[in-house]
Amino acid sequence: MGKTKLYCILPQKKTHMESFFKEAIGSLKTSGTVKPSSKYLIRNCLKGIDYSRAETIIEFGTGNGCFTREIAKNMRPNTSLYSFEVNQKFHAYSSREFQTQKNVQILNRSALDFDKVLREDSVSQVDYIISSLPLTLFKKSDTQTILSKVSTYLKKEGCFVQYQYSLSNYLQLRRAFDAIHIGVTIRNFPPAVIYTCSPK
Ligand SMILES: C[S@@+](CC[C@H](N)C(=O)[O-])C[C@H]1O[C@@H](n2cnc3c(N)ncnc32)[C@H](O)[C@@H]1O
Repeated sequence: MGKTKLYCILPQKKTHMESFFKEAIGSLKTSGTVKPSSKYLIRNCLKGIDYSRAETIIEFGTGNGCFTREIAKNMRPNTSLYSFEVNQKFHAYSSREFQTQKNVQILNRSALDFDKVLREDSVSQVDYIISSLPLTLFKKSDTQTILSKVSTYLKKEGCFVQYQYSLSNYLQLRRAFDAIHIGVTIRNFPPAVIYTCSPK
């Protein structure tokens, strides 16, 4: 009998999920999870956005771009989206995807510096800030700094949306914002709490 050849056909392009898992496992201390958010969590976090009036939307923690994609699909051409991501691989991955969409900027910078980026672009106020930051892994003082900057930059009728897998930052958020609506999304791994915060 002749030799048997075994051919293994590998997919050419990694899916959003495969890429995320590999990178998230390797950088668990900053990614804070091993799975991208589910479509249910994304939908629930973004359901309060009024795309018809939003001029500027900020995202903290692009990851594999699962929130970015949904926002970019729905926003008007004259709305600007700035998305901040510290992980170089996630940044490179998502930058490629949105490189032709000129009103979407994926920045390889910390969310702590979002005010500097806005000042460079002469933006003084924003409509929505959507955050996937793993705040439980942050120094309390860094979270405090981010929340205080968020309050300064949000328009009165704007809102800050943060999801978490626990209630550990609730009190900090309560002190920084006027009103907080709490929702829960069970259909996510792990299930998540969503804080929708209005500025003071
Ligand atoms: C829980 S993952 C969420 C990713 C994606 N948005 C999602 O919901 O699936 C958190 C992301 O925040 C990023 N991150 C952590 N610290 C950050 C910081 N200081 N500034 C910007 N991004 C940060 C991580 O690299 C990671 O991609």
